[in-house]
Amino acid sequence: MNIPKRYLVTSALPYANGPLHIGHLAGAYLPADIYVRYLRLMGRDVVFVCGSDEHGAAITVKAKKEGCSPKEVVDKYHAVLRDSLKGIGIQFDIYHRTSEPIHYQTSQDFFRTLLQNGQFEEIESDQYFDEAVGQFLADRYIVGTCPKCQAPDAYGDQCEKCGSSLSPNELIEPRSTLSGSTPVKKPTRHWYLKLNEHEEWLRNWINTGVGPDGKTLHLPSEWKNHVIGQCNSWLDGGLQPRAMTRDLDWGIPVPPELPGSENKVLYVWLDAPIGYISATKQWALDNGKEWEPYWKSEDTALVHFIGKDNIVFHCLIFPAILKAHGGFVLPVNVPANQFLNLEGRKLSTSKNWAVWVHEFLAEMPAEQGDALRYNMVRKMPEQADSEFTWKGYQETTNNELVNNLANFVNRVLVLTQKYYGGVVPAFEADCSFQSGFRPGETTLAGPELEALSAKVSEIGKQIESYNFKEALRLLMEVSSAGNALLQFNEPWKTIKESPELVKAVLGLSLQVVTALSVLMRPFMPEAASRLRSMLALPTFTDQSEWQVLEAQLANSEWPLPIGHTIGAAAHLFSRIPDELIDAQIAKLNQTQSEVAEAPSGIQYTPLKEMIQYDDFAKMDIRTGTILTAEKMEKSKKLLKLQIDLGFEQRTVLSGIAEHFTPEEVVGQQVLLLANLAPRLMMGVESQGMILMAEHPDGKLAFVAPGEKWPSGMGVK
Ligand code: 2FM
Ligand code: ZN
Repeated sequence: MNIPKRYLVTSALPYANGPLHIGHLAGAYLPADIYVRYLRLMGRDVVFVCGSDEHGAAITVKAKKEGCSPKEVVDKYHAVLRDSLKGIGIQFDIYHRTSEPIHYQTSQDFFRTLLQNGQFEEIESDQYFDEAVGQFLADRYIVGTCPKCQAPDAYGDQCEKCGSSLSPNELIEPRSTLSGSTPVKKPTRHWYLKLNEHEEWLRNWINTGVGPDGKTLHLPSEWKNHVIGQCNSWLDGGLQPRAMTRDLDWGIPVPPELPGSENKVLYVWLDAPIGYISATKQWALDNGKEWEPYWKSEDTALVHFIGKDNIVFHCLIFPAILKAHGGFVLPVNVPANQFLNLEGRKLSTSKNWAVWVHEFLAEMPAEQGDALRYNMVRKMPEQADSEFTWKGYQETTNNELVNNLANFVNRVLVLTQKYYGGVVPAFEADCSFQSGFRPGETTLAGPELEALSAKVSEIGKQIESYNFKEALRLLMEVSSAGNALLQFNEPWKTIKESPELVKAVLGLSLQVVTALSVLMRPFMPEAASRLRSMLALPTFTDQSEWQVLEAQLANSEWPLPIGHTIGAAAHLFSRIPDELIDAQIAKLNQTQSEVAEAPSGIQYTPLKEMIQYDDFAKMDIRTGTILTAEKMEKSKKLLKLQIDLGFEQRTVLSGIAEHFTPEEVVGQQVLLLANLAPRLMMGVESQGMILMAEHPDGKLAFVAPGEKWPSGMGVK
């Protein structure tokens, strides 16, 4: 692999219109942070930039909702985002803001250069206008029914349900998000980027990795399939000129010297990605460095970490902008992640269905910050959407972080203290013992270290290929091998009769623990630091520790020198008790009933976990008719029903006796779950279950076809 001379890594600038949730974290921030931390530990030259995206309808719509100014919104959430990202250990070189003067200047200069380069076309067209508030409606200012999937609330630029890119003119029954009114059309003039002129090289670059000047810039096999797929489906629709200005009063003004620029601002997708450049400029100013090599040298690797909703902007529109400007490198990769769901539902800021990072940090024990990072990688939606559940979080943390990793580290450090007063014992490299890395084999310390060395390099390769889940899995294999080493050789039993073997087992285990402290650093930086101090090693410089470890292992050097005295052992992670998790689940459900209760006063029960179609398809639901009904003796609740299914009759016991008399229900049409396993109740076999709707006040109602239907018909 050719190692680039330098890296410029970006994470999507989050809109400063709400706090950070775990979906954001798993999508664009944590993978980037792991990647960057690894690069630093390998001694590479890397700058990692991000900042708040403070313009666009996302901000003004929120301001309207909160009854304050857009400026108040961005000031508030910029601070929340910045602190949450820092709190969870995302180590940017700069976390900037798109409201900074240097960014205004950079974006306006970009606009001027694009204009000079003949990249714009000025077009006058009729656009939707809200007469009630006197504003043109683009992007998120207008909603309507999606022409592709019929979702009722598609935005003017995109349908969040089906992912289609839209223009306001395509929406069915459009309405203003500002006033709710039906907009009228009015003419307005804008600058359009001639994206159509970039279609050919973009298609070629995305599919072959060959850039506009004929050089191979990347290999398509290095890019994720879903990223290339999404780009191609856009390209297949044909690229159209795209307006790069808006009629709004919140945003970066179009350069004021241009005629017709009054009351016009830059389109947020021209402004925000340029934010990566202005952030780099500010970082360079603050650190006495130059920004240009990071954006303009061919030996720079530019990598954008984003969520899948940002793919076209980073793979087509921003590259077109960079090319249209000239002199900038194109990204070598855009390893976009898919979406993380929460307890079976899509994460949603507006519906408050989220785990908020600032709340997590405030409510959970400090070590849980790294446990959250660990869990986010385990569930990282690298290739497909994935799902976070609190129970899963507890299980993974307790089984993997506590029982495997923390337990291994603790046993090794405690035994080293106990047997050798904390001093790393000298051991014979050819002392034979049961292997941890090749279970079942009897081995020597030398091959054991070779196996560790190979693992360390493989983990690095996986991180560099954006396979963070796989890298973490391999890391845990190292810890499991360490545990197996202890378990097979049981030093606590053999210390008396085989002291030399125990020295080898613990000496080697200490090397594994030391390697783990480095391997953990990108994933769980704070725990890695704690482990480092338990080992009494110097604090991380984050400059080359991984590189040093790799070299040591390759040369069969012990990363923890013999004779070194370690510090006191402490627990890396502790078990998460049920109460902590139950409290979080209750909180999630509580916010839901608050949200759900608001409009109608009804207490809705929270939605159950998401199922797949196949789960549903297993159910055989039929129309049926109640032929007879009688009370069950000794039961207040049960009625015994005889139900006709057309082709057969069933006996069903149903808990409806407190709601209906037997006479009332005879002749009633019902829906029957006909393939539910029979159940014996009070000596009678119940052969199915009838479906009932339940009101929050406890009332039950039959569910049946709207008109009288034959019995035995399927329901789907
Ligand atoms: O989707 C979003 O949250 C945007 N604020 C991302 C912008 S990424 C970049 F272009 F700045
Ligand atoms: Zn749609």
